[in-house]
Amino acid sequence: MSVRINDTAPDFTAETTEGPISFHEWIGDGYAVLFSHPRAFTPVCTTELGTVARLVPEFEKRNAKVLGVSVDSNDDHLKWKRDIAEVAGVPADFAIVDDTSLKVSKLYDMLPAEHYLPSEGRTPQHSATVRTVFIIAPDKKVRLTMAYPMSVGRNFAEIIRALDAIQATDGAPISTPADWRQGEDVIVATSLNDEQAEAKFGKMEKKLPYLRYVKAPETV
Ligand code: BEZ
Repeated sequence: MSVRINDTAPDFTAETTEGPISFHEWIGDGYAVLFSHPRAFTPVCTTELGTVARLVPEFEKRNAKVLGVSVDSNDDHLKWKRDIAEVAGVPADFAIVDDTSLKVSKLYDMLPAEHYLPSEGRTPQHSATVRTVFIIAPDKKVRLTMAYPMSVGRNFAEIIRALDAIQATDGAPISTPADWRQGEDVIVATSLNDEQAEAKFGKMEKKLPYLRYVKAPETV
């Protein structure tokens, strides 16, 4: 069963490189970015985790914790973190779940479809996770899901941009236009008429009756 936007993120307990966690408790009052990568000691994943290592301060600024998931063991992940630090030039200061049991991978439907084929003919790649991302809000609801194929490394700048957009719009009658970046104007929900929109957000720029821009509320 796939995990969809607005679902409550499935809770789990797991061993990680930073010790055991209970996921919802670990998230606490902030946001979480849960992301899987297919295998330890593989080239694309090493570059991805190196990028995450460099971005940890950006996630922290946004009150977001990052948690990697891989189907390898804690021992492997601890060794792999040395390679990641060498590539990134900074320590990999975030937890990675030991998902050798596939518990988390199955719970979040992170495995490729072929995983469900009969065991005959299954290769190690079939139990490797695909590259998924889940952004989870403090209310533990899933706000974003992404899945990339094994051959394509993710753009973590986009994940931060999406997190900014989620935080800017959470609980407010606004949304962000295509390619929005922090500091740019946002779109007022059509549930507010012009008068209500200006009373709440100040002066509007009305491009179309249903496309009305206002200044974005401050986030970071
Ligand atoms: C990678 O480069 O990240 C990768 C390569 C083969 C299998 C899984 C991951």
